[in-house]
Amino acid sequence: MNQDDLKRLVGEAALEYVQPDSIIGVGTGSTVNCFIEALLKSRIHIEAAVSSSEATTALLQAGGIRVVDLNQTGGLDVYIDGADEFDVHRRLIKGGGGALTREKIVAAASKKFVCIADQSKKVGVLGAFPLPIEVIPLARSLVARQLVALGGQPEWRQGFTTDNGNWILDVHNMDLVDPVAMEKTINNLAGVVTCGLFAMRPADLVLMSTQEGIKQI
Ligand code: 5RP
Repeated sequence: MNQDDLKRLVGEAALEYVQPDSIIGVGTGSTVNCFIEALLKSRIHIEAAVSSSEATTALLQAGGIRVVDLNQTGGLDVYIDGADEFDVHRRLIKGGGGALTREKIVAAASKKFVCIADQSKKVGVLGAFPLPIEVIPLARSLVARQLVALGGQPEWRQGFTTDNGNWILDVHNMDLVDPVAMEKTINNLAGVVTCGLFAMRPADLVLMSTQEGIKQI
């Protein structure tokens, strides 16, 4: 199986966590797109979805799924989303697609966060994938200097604006041995909207697709 097959496999595996007639949270990215495709094919009826990005909203709506605002729904039972990296404690780096802030909000609102990923995303220590950080445009240089002081090498994702109208810094070579502490530190910098570390609120379950099938972490 190639990586696309593995994404499809884990997208289908996530259907098990979708309660018929419920409102679910849906993340962003190519693995989530496979989940949406599987959901549409499955004919499982859901009442609605809370979406983490404009791209996901468009895909859900094109498939006839009603998208509702989190302010209308209150808490959600389940949130399905991908990751750029995960470790054995189900802590994640997210934001490769730039949707990290809404993803973090929907994850925070959900009782169960099911992360779907192929085996290439599993790491011993987070940080080989550059850490995405959403910043208020005015604060880009200020935040970048502080990230350098923290040991990272920030790179502005030029030409990209988030769904919230902000910019992304992708930070290389951050020491993420203690991801909870680093998440708090970065989120406290003035001008940071949020960082792509999901360590304070990790996934509750990672479904990892491998050549041997789905493994649960
Ligand atoms: C988007 C994300 C995605 O979940 C992450 O980038 C993984 O994407 P893909 O499934 O395409 O590899 O965090 O902001």
